Amino acid sequence: MRINTLILGAGAAGMMCARYCGGSTLVIDHAKAPGEKIRISGGGRCNFTNMYAEAKNYLSANPHFCKSALARYTQWDFIELVGRHGIAWHEKTLGQLFCDGSSKQIIAMLVEEMRKAGADLWLHTSVETVAQTADGYTVKLQREGQLQTITCRNLVLATGGKSIPKMGATGLAYDLARQFGLELTETRPALVPFTFPDGRFQPLAGVSLPARLSNARTAFDEALLFTHRGLSGPSVLQLSSYWREGEEITVNLIPGTPLYDLLREQRQAEGRRDLTTELSRHLPGKLVDFLAPQLGLKGRLADQSDGALSALCESLRNWHLLPAGTEGYRTAEVTLGGIDTDGLSSKTMEAKAAPGLFAIGEAVDVTGWLGGYNFQWAWASGHAAGTAI
Ligand code: FDA
Repeated sequence: MRINTLILGAGAAGMMCARYCGGSTLVIDHAKAPGEKIRISGGGRCNFTNMYAEAKNYLSANPHFCKSALARYTQWDFIELVGRHGIAWHEKTLGQLFCDGSSKQIIAMLVEEMRKAGADLWLHTSVETVAQTADGYTVKLQREGQLQTITCRNLVLATGGKSIPKMGATGLAYDLARQFGLELTETRPALVPFTFPDGRFQPLAGVSLPARLSNARTAFDEALLFTHRGLSGPSVLQLSSYWREGEEITVNLIPGTPLYDLLREQRQAEGRRDLTTELSRHLPGKLVDFLAPQLGLKGRLADQSDGALSALCESLRNWHLLPAGTEGYRTAEVTLGGIDTDGLSSKTMEAKAAPGLFAIGEAVDVTGWLGGYNFQWAWASGHAAGTAI
């Protein structure tokens, strides 16, 4: 079969790209349904974009690469599309937009748009081989036990990264990129919980509080969640993208709280109150119980000197922890790194060394923060390639 464009991967980026490619486009996926990651995203409500998305919310060896695509297909373009399909949405926090109903509405919208544009979708289809021809590519596909050969002018790599292999993530885009001479940057799990080997946070599992997590490179003010195996929650997931093995992280358990002044006031007003009881007004009780032996928290407020209260606040602001590692690709929301942007046009996402070969979405070395930024990159890069095709 001869077609104009073959898109590998019916995920966020692949389906968005197909909208713009016009007829004679086929999208294939080895999964039984399109957009499986969209379906499970945002707790089933899909955090589909972020009102504040801009280049500074993305990690990449070349921080300028994403600018062109993000500027030409913005969060407002996607919000307009969602509105046109009558999908109700709300801002949860920090500009993060979620469906009021279900993430399945976003998948249905993309499938409808793709079909309206004349693209076909083959599910349960895997890639056997890809070869370059004089004017395009020949791809051998396995579809429900049948071998099919497709010849196309344009081939789009949209099979995503390595995160959550159980959901069908593979390294196919990286393998094909390498086959056609593109370089890869180091890939690592990102937006992923930290683990601690000794189960030290077991007694705190389920406790969450607002915190500031930082390392030498950056800091995030968002919720922190203790788990049986370590630390999770938005602030942890965000920091994980900037973390390397063996590095300490710093947890500020009282960001924005003038705790020293508050404790001194309370010492004056209610000096007979236990220090731990007073602290439990500002921090979860279980956390205070956990920290009490480590920080020597005992006695009444009246027994605490200014120096002791100041030292306590300093400890709560600068809790240094050394994660053993992360939960890895098993639970990582995204893959950091990927197809080196040096080999791609930032305008069209086409490979400089292989005409007609495009790479979009998570497979490319552009990784967003938590909060709808990764889908915005998938929409924008899919649009860039689709309009160029
Ligand atoms: P995506 O992974 O969506 O699609 C790739 C497609 O290729 C899949 O359909 C897959 O089956 C297919 N495929 C893979 N290998 C193949 C092969 N060998 N042969 C054939 N097909 C193959 N982001 C965000 O902005 N907001 C959010 O709320 C969330 N939430 C979230 C929750 C969870 C649990 C995860 C794991 C991830 C998120 N993300 C997110 C990240 C977001 O899902 C991700 O960045 C995008 O889905 C990436 O879009 P792509 O189209 O590049 O890949």
